[in-house]
Amino acid sequence: MTHTIQPTNPEATPAPDSTDIPAAPAPAAAPSSSALPAALKRRVPRYSDLAPLMQFKKPEFSREARLKRASTVWELRDIAKRRTPKAPFDYTDGAAEGEITLRRARQAFLDIEFRPGILRNVSTIDLSTAVLGKKSRLPVGIAPTGFTRMMQSEGEYAGSQAAEAAGIPYTLSTMGTASIEDVAAAAPNGRNWFQLYLWTDRDRSLELIERAAKAGNDTLMVTVDTAVAGARLRDVRNGMTIPPALTLKTVLDASYRPAWWFNFLTHEPLTFASLSRYTGTVADLINSMFDPTLTFEDLDWLRETWKGNLVVKGIQTVEDARRVVDHGADGVVLSNHGGRQLDRAPIPFHLLPEVKQAFTADNTDAAIMLDTGIMSGADIVAALALGADFTLIGRAYLYGLMAGGRAGVDRTLEILEKDMARTMALLGVSRISELTPDHVRVLTN
Ligand SMILES: Cc1cc2nc3c(=O)[nH]c(=O)nc-3n(C[C@H](O)[C@H](O)[C@H](O)COP(=O)(O)O)c2cc1C
Repeated sequence: MTHTIQPTNPEATPAPDSTDIPAAPAPAAAPSSSALPAALKRRVPRYSDLAPLMQFKKPEFSREARLKRASTVWELRDIAKRRTPKAPFDYTDGAAEGEITLRRARQAFLDIEFRPGILRNVSTIDLSTAVLGKKSRLPVGIAPTGFTRMMQSEGEYAGSQAAEAAGIPYTLSTMGTASIEDVAAAAPNGRNWFQLYLWTDRDRSLELIERAAKAGNDTLMVTVDTAVAGARLRDVRNGMTIPPALTLKTVLDASYRPAWWFNFLTHEPLTFASLSRYTGTVADLINSMFDPTLTFEDLDWLRETWKGNLVVKGIQTVEDARRVVDHGADGVVLSNHGGRQLDRAPIPFHLLPEVKQAFTADNTDAAIMLDTGIMSGADIVAALALGADFTLIGRAYLYGLMAGGRAGVDRTLEILEKDMARTMALLGVSRISELTPDHVRVLTN
């Protein structure tokens, strides 16, 4: 049996076979304007109404104004892209092969849910922490990056001085474009670390280690994920050379980025922290630096030779994390080199809880550091909650550098600091030691 429902509006024509659909009630007639409350009646605006709304400001084009307008690291990246020639921008922004590792690493930080605590007193937030025996004002330091003065002429000087001002460590790369001594002089009160590409040619390594110790570096970070160079396909496509060559393509590109080229051509030519001047493709240079014959015996030699903190960067499995600690490392950097070496490599953020669990079981206090994919302060907070003692940023600071030199690096650090303080307050914690894995749920699908 079917029910027939009569339309309530006698004017509505029932559609054929629409017996089950009730007709909509007729709209109520709009109230006459005299019945409207005073606040809803239209009137001609008075000047006194408009004056407080009019906030026309003179447009500002200074570097500071440009940087202030960026409120995320992604926005600094946008500015960097506009101001930097394609080859050095892509060298920084790009990763190996299909760039799958880098995409996954960034996505891993997004695939979480924070679990906040409410009604906690979070009127002051303390972001300081201790790493490798010394205090850092923020739980993040600057990762080693090569060729930095090619991205923007202030390069390593901007990075080390911004880190010094922010009270965080700065790591100079073996392939840095300023010498160990010049960085030490530029940031004399900074905490400078040195990143080493170890060679089986021990005299070559020894010379660098001695220079780093003499210049006051308290930590040596040996990078071990570079047996050979990764396939950075953007560099191949761009015909990237160091220094950038003046070809028809780069000259055309220069016409859109005159400030970069002016800076580049009017400053001291690129020299390397540890190498003599070099002209050739990036891959050739990297291949000449990387040593595929290295083994754990070389790490033992380094441990005996270097008296300061020894950190091994490029750890991608729990077994290797444990093994380097057994060989005397004071800390590990869970890293896949920003996705620039092996594509489809393990994601450090995924590896972190397992390494934390293993180190707790082994009762080791070796520091767990993490990099790759960090683009916001919330990423850093998530890593700390899941067991990282410290984090490092590569591209995030380089985008700032390319967007505005030293001031741009300052802006990156300022954005990350604000993000971290806000995220922690919203999570209901006021210091880093209060963060626990309970604050983060990793979403699985
Ligand atoms: C342009 C560039 C150059 C790099 N050069 C070095 C290097 O010379 N030595 C090294 O150990 N890692 C190097 N890295 C890797 C970084 O130290 C770090 O592991 C990586 O950038 C972290 O990922 P993120 O960029 O997503 O923060 C470089 C990374 C970039 C982006």
